[in-house]
Amino acid sequence: MTDTKSSKAASSGDTPRRVFIKSFGCQMNVYDAQRMADALSAEGYVETATPDDADLVLLNTCNIREKAAEKVYSDLGRIRVLKDAAAREGRRMTIGVTGCVAQAEGAEIVARAPAVDLVVGPQSYHRLPSILKQSAKGAVIDTEFATEDKFDFLAPPSRAATRARGVTAFVTVQEGCDKFCTFCVVPYTRGAEVSRPVAKIVAEVERLVDAGVREVSLIGQNVNAYHGEGPDGRTWSLARLLARLSEVSGLARLRYTTSHPNDMDDDLYAAHRDLPALMPFLHLPVQSGSDRMLSAMNRRHTRADYLRAVERLKTAQPDIAFSSDFIVGFPGETDADFQATLDLVAEVGFAAAYSFKYSPRPGTPAADMDEQVPEDLKSARLAQLQALIDREQAAFNARCIGRTFDVLLEKSGRHPGQITGRSPYLQPVQVMADTSDIGRIVAVRIEDVRVYSLLGSRLAAQDQQNESAASAPRVAAIAHGA
Ligand code: 5AD
Ligand code: SF4
Repeated sequence: MTDTKSSKAASSGDTPRRVFIKSFGCQMNVYDAQRMADALSAEGYVETATPDDADLVLLNTCNIREKAAEKVYSDLGRIRVLKDAAAREGRRMTIGVTGCVAQAEGAEIVARAPAVDLVVGPQSYHRLPSILKQSAKGAVIDTEFATEDKFDFLAPPSRAATRARGVTAFVTVQEGCDKFCTFCVVPYTRGAEVSRPVAKIVAEVERLVDAGVREVSLIGQNVNAYHGEGPDGRTWSLARLLARLSEVSGLARLRYTTSHPNDMDDDLYAAHRDLPALMPFLHLPVQSGSDRMLSAMNRRHTRADYLRAVERLKTAQPDIAFSSDFIVGFPGETDADFQATLDLVAEVGFAAAYSFKYSPRPGTPAADMDEQVPEDLKSARLAQLQALIDREQAAFNARCIGRTFDVLLEKSGRHPGQITGRSPYLQPVQVMADTSDIGRIVAVRIEDVRVYSLLGSRLAAQDQQNESAASAPRVAAIAHGA
């Protein structure tokens, strides 16, 4: 994480304490890490970019696959060495494990890694400052699902901290999952679906925009199942929330992730048609192209249902592109099932996709299913699927050559004079511009494709500088090339 200076600690004259936070996994962990940093900043902590000199090291963990969960223990081994070295210098280093491994394993973490001083689940981050004080007397485990709303207690970021984090931001609007896909730990680690009230989200977005943020991604494990309390006392859908946020002056772009196909409703399709701020790029996980596997996964939708959702989105927003998640080697997956996944990828033509080998997670139904697929077969299928996805992505990128995109300029690029921005499809775009342009949305003609980014040149006369979300065009002057 970047070193964001805390104004409070700096101005108080005390030596600030340093916190190093390492986040694994999903975007919600990135957001949570920022909120933890904000909560600790109010206690006089500043962030540091390395664990070496930290007074507090937090590993914000991910439990979605075994590899991610095990990574925590190898990191803890390394950090324990730093803790011992600090102790020899007369310094105390506190080690905390937060996130989904903390929630799933609780006290087992301290049993396996005794250097750990605190274990805090995702619903208890607001108690971090008091847990920290308690931990001076011995290890503290807090994996309660709190009855209070943690967001009411988490300090908002300072304007300076928000600025330092850049012109795009995540905002959690929904947490937890009631879907219980048979492979997934999320319903157990993040709990049942909870939606934040509209007014609190609007206030948070307004604060971010006031500090220079131009693009907000609404995040939730099942974000399109959002059903938060509106200011009128009624339940608002995600579509209604998006419409409200698109009225925030100065906010140019909105995204939402991650969605479940079954929670796409009529209003949300209409939002893609009607809200210019809503970017034409949607992450819509399908997991498999085989109905047999989808049923065993308890996805509660078919391949045809998924394709129908894709078609409806394309009708609502002809420029839309998709990304997705896939699991290969789910128990019982045959060659024919896997082929159905390959066929689906070819049929939809994803702009990007993430694919994973099925990883049995303790406590989930699929972990106990017969017909577990051998590891080498999983690896072979993964390689084959990833090669196809790479080809699809390269083809999508190649089709961008000759098009003109609105690009949000985000940060200095690799070469002098270059700024890295993002297209509506989240592709990094390298363009010659000034650092003072960061935060602007400029029209860029795409001229070339590199492995990880697009290269383009700016059409100076067409800058979209101070537009509000309501008037921001998404894909400017489309001239389909290649
Ligand atoms: N094994 C492999 N991949 C998984 N995912 C979730 N659980 C597992 C698991 N047990 C993947 C799904 C999900 C993404 C976030 O991680 O594809 O959409
Ligand atoms: Fe996990 Fe399925 Fe819920 Fe997504 S919808 S978080 S994959 S249980």
